[in-house]
This record gives sequence, C-alpha cells and structure tokens, in this order.
Amino acid sequence: MCGIVGYIGKSNNALKILIDGLKSLEYRGYDSSGIAYVFHDDIKIIKEKGKVSELEKDLDFSEKINSGIAHTRWATHGVPSKLNAHPHRCEKITLVHNGIIENYAELKNELEKKYKFKSETDTEVIAVLLNDIYKEKNDIFSSIVELKKRLKGSYALAIMCSDSLDKIYAIRKDSPLIIAENKEGTFLASDVPAIIKYTKKYYLLLEDEIAVLSCDNVKFYNDSKEEIKKELITFEGSSNDAEKEGYSHFMLKEINEEKSIIKKFAARYKTIEDLLKDYEDISSYDKIDIVACGSAYHVGVIAKYLIEEYVKTPVSVEIASEYRYKNNFLTNKSLAIFISQSGETADTLASLRKVKEEKVKTLSIVNVVGSSIARESDMVIYTKAGPEIAVATTKAFIAQLLVITYMTLVLGYRKELIDSCYINKILKEIHSLDISKIIDKDYTKVAEILKDKKSIFYLGRNIDYAIALEGSLKLKEISYIHSEAYASGELKHGTISLIEKNTPVISVLTKDAIVEKTISNIKEVKARGAFNIVVSPIECDFADLVINIPKVSDILMPIVAVIPLQLIAFETAKKKGCDIDKPRNLAKSVTVE
Ligand code: AGP
Ligand code: GLU
Repeated sequence: MCGIVGYIGKSNNALKILIDGLKSLEYRGYDSSGIAYVFHDDIKIIKEKGKVSELEKDLDFSEKINSGIAHTRWATHGVPSKLNAHPHRCEKITLVHNGIIENYAELKNELEKKYKFKSETDTEVIAVLLNDIYKEKNDIFSSIVELKKRLKGSYALAIMCSDSLDKIYAIRKDSPLIIAENKEGTFLASDVPAIIKYTKKYYLLLEDEIAVLSCDNVKFYNDSKEEIKKELITFEGSSNDAEKEGYSHFMLKEINEEKSIIKKFAARYKTIEDLLKDYEDISSYDKIDIVACGSAYHVGVIAKYLIEEYVKTPVSVEIASEYRYKNNFLTNKSLAIFISQSGETADTLASLRKVKEEKVKTLSIVNVVGSSIARESDMVIYTKAGPEIAVATTKAFIAQLLVITYMTLVLGYRKELIDSCYINKILKEIHSLDISKIIDKDYTKVAEILKDKKSIFYLGRNIDYAIALEGSLKLKEISYIHSEAYASGELKHGTISLIEKNTPVISVLTKDAIVEKTISNIKEVKARGAFNIVVSPIECDFADLVINIPKVSDILMPIVAVIPLQLIAFETAKKKGCDIDKPRNLAKSVTVE
C-alpha cells in the first residue's frame, strides 16, 4: 500500500524525478498524493486528492529543485483527502509513511496535550512525535533511533528535517523500502519501477538500519551510529518492465507476457535434472500447509488438488489473515509454503513469522526478489515473472502455477509416485504450449453479455473450482460486478435460488474424470434459466456459449483455462469504462493487516 519516492542530488529536476517515480508506483495506492521539497532553504509541501496527475497540475516544473520526498496514498486512517494526504509536517519534521501505526491513538492522546493535529492519520502522529523528541535531543539521528522504540506497527518512512536539508533519512519495519544511487544523486523508493530509469542497482533497507541519503552518497547505520556496509542488488528485468510498451493497459501487456514467461520456464527446465537442481527436496514432510491471500491463495487451492492427487500428501490451504490467528497443529514433519507476488503482504508475512516461531520449515514462492517473505523463509523459489504493475495479477499467477506444477512433479518423482517418463512428457508439453491463440480470441462478445449484469456465477469441480475462484475474483476486482465461484455440486444447497432467467453462469470444464458431474450441474442451472458460458476443451452443445481451449495434460489445464477468465474480466471492465489497472479501493501490495 502506498508508494514512496525520495531524491536528493545534483539534478535540478527533482520534481520530475519524484512525480515520474510516483506515477510508476501508483499501482500501490492512488487516492491522494503529495510532495515535499527543499525550496529557498525551507520545505514546501503540495498535496492533492485523487491520482498523481492531479498533483502534477499544481507543480511548476521549471523550478530548480534538487531534493524532496513524495507519496501516493492508500488510506488506512482517515478518508482520502488533501488534508490527510502525505507528506505530514510538524514544525521541523516532514515525512511520508507507508504502513500502520498500531499505537497511534495512545501516542496521539499524549501528544495532544502539547500539539494541535490537522489530519486524521496515524502518520501525522509520527511527525509530531519525532518533532517532540527532536526538540529535546536536538539531534535528528538519535531522535530517529528513539522514534523507532516508541512506534508499534509497520512503517517505511522518508524523513526530512528543516535543520539538515542536505539529507533525507529513511527507516522501515514490515513495509518495503529500497535505496539507490547514481552519478546524479541518491534515491529511495517503495519499489524498483521508481528507480529503474536511473539505475538497475539498489540496496534493500533492512529493519535494523537507518539510511542517510545525501547529494553524493547514501550511508547505512545501526542504532549506535556504526556504519554498515551493504551489498548492492541488481534488478534482472529491463526498464521497459515499467512501461506499457504500446498496450492500452498494463493488465493486457502482462497477460501477453504470459507467453514469454511460459517460454522462459520451458527453456530453463528441459530435463528432470534441471528441476532437481532448483527444487529442494521437500519429500520428507508429511503435511503441507499453503498460506496466501487473494489470487495467490487460489494458486494454493490448485496446488492442493495437484499435490494431493499426484503426490498423495495432505495439503491444507489457508487464507493468511485467518491462519495467523488460529491453531494450525504443525509438527516437525510439517512444511509451510507461502505464496506471494509482492513478498510483502502483511498477513502472509505475519503467518510466516508465526510458523517460524514454532520452528517449522518454511518455503516461499515469491515474485519480488529480496522482499520480506523471500528473505525470511528458509527456502525460496522465485517466480521471475518481472515487475507486475496492474493491480489485478495475471502473469505472476501463471508463473506461480508453473512453479507449483514443477514442484508437484519433482515431489512426485522423489516420492517415486511419478516417473521420469511422465515428467519428460510434461516438460515437452510446456515447451510446445502455445497460448497465443487463447490470448488472441475475441472476448468482447462475452463481455457484452456480462457488462450490465448485477450478479454472475462461476462453477467448477475439483481443480476447475479453484480456477473458477480466480475467474470470479478477477471479474469482481476490475469490473465491479458481483460474482461468486461455487463448487458446482454445492450450488444446489442454497445458492441456486439466486439463479434466474439470463443469470450468467461461467463453468470451467477441464477435468476428464468429473466432466459428466459438472455437466449435470450446468444443466440444473440451465433448467432455471441461466445463460451458460463454458470454458472447456471438449464439445459442449449444452452450453449457450463455448470458449474453446486446447486440450493439454490435466496437470497443465489450469494454465490454459485461467487465461480466458483473465481476458473476460479485462474486456468486461473495459466495456464498463473501469480504471482497469487501478481498480477502486484497491492497491497492489497489501502491507497492512
Ligand atoms: C489479485 O488480482 C489481487 N490483486 C490480490 O488478490 C492479490 O493476489 C493478493 O493481495 C495477494 O498479493 P501477493 O501475491 O502480493 O501476496
Ligand atoms: N496509515 C497511513 C495513512 O492512512 C499510510 C497509509 C499508506 O500506507 O498509504 O495515511
């Protein structure tokens, strides 16, 4: 949630650097934005409600500015408004914040005796508190050290102090922050897209560090002000990853990138030996918990069906926000797997930490290199899908599906339940998998049917149900049409009462062994007036509209079946004129509980 950018350097173009940076991070939050910069030996603050483009209109880019911090918000405390937008200032302290301060009410009560607050945010409390500490200590570094001791919750903070305008300070806890430098100056940002135009190398700020950015360099210290030497990380993608490259939307660009993602995986894993090298041996665990949120959770549901069917190992799939507060009955024979695109999702991270306290082995499947979940897990498999900008995940989902498919194959092989012959067949099939025909199909007809509907159902059994869950979430998320995914046999236990004439029902029908059962359920809703849309490789003369997908091995069917569902959601949202890449109320990386 929320994007932070900071710059201090020789360039007089700081306003442009900060605004471009905010725009590239807008997927993280977009209800209001603001900027603070050094102007005539003081700090000038400009804020606006709405998207970064609103803020941009207020700025005079001819001003020669070389230092500032900026923020695009996803409100947690207080409505989206100009007043609540960041940066927040209290006398000599100005800062931007990503996260939630859990003890803000308590701190505010105390500080209200001395200060008048202007906003409803938890962030302003940080600014006031730091200012209060600074007044007493008169040293910004030790004041920040003290601030860290007083705050509970999550934060990434970029801080400016009116007495040291030649510096920007940064700290973080449970919210991400990266720092970079080049010949022109030093940068800080919530994520790589904000700095990629200037450098591909960056530092990950860790939780026990304080970064001090100045015009010529960045230095990292511990709380005792001892300097810490850190290693640079190199971003492996290209600077085009943060551009639309001719596509109308990032989501469409990212769906198209699924082709090259499949090719990259196929090129990397040509033989069973290639797989054995990359996938650690997890065959000794007799219970697997998969923990994730949203779409990543749906990958977990698919993984459960695959692992239980092919590897005969019991798997529990759990929503991270539930898992972290319940008893999970883990033993030293359990393995906990965490799936996350961003690697920063607060609930998933908290669940990981909880499991680690119980000394249970952890493995994460993560897209963002060096993210908290990746760093804190015992084992990590990177999905390497490149930066995903659209809030609705698509290409990262496909990469996660590939990883869990390979994982199932290796696990089955190690347990002697899958032979090398079958694995080679699947690896070859992935190699020749061509999804371009699925992507290039015309989904506008389906979108036309769906666009004015109030409610839509997705059905499927077994692994098809898991795919239906993802299709339904995609549609809700970007087109704002209410939809529900049901295990098709379950509908008749109550929810079928909602089916009326022309209610669209989208069924996923891929799994040979249970096709007949789902067909019966499709006929049941048909008898009640539903308009049946079926995604399937088989002939479906019982359907009102069929989206034909190629027949591939069962284990690969989720990959080909989910793509039409992504595109149906995309085209429907497009017809409705929705802001597809930045759907209302959402943000890409959910770093709050
Ligand atoms: C998917 O389209 C959503 N944006 C959302 O459900 C997402 O998958 C979820 O928030 C988990 O995010 P993560 O993969 O970064 O942990
Ligand atoms: N909690 C802060 C607020 O509501 C920061 C939210 C964010 O991370 O964008 O302003």
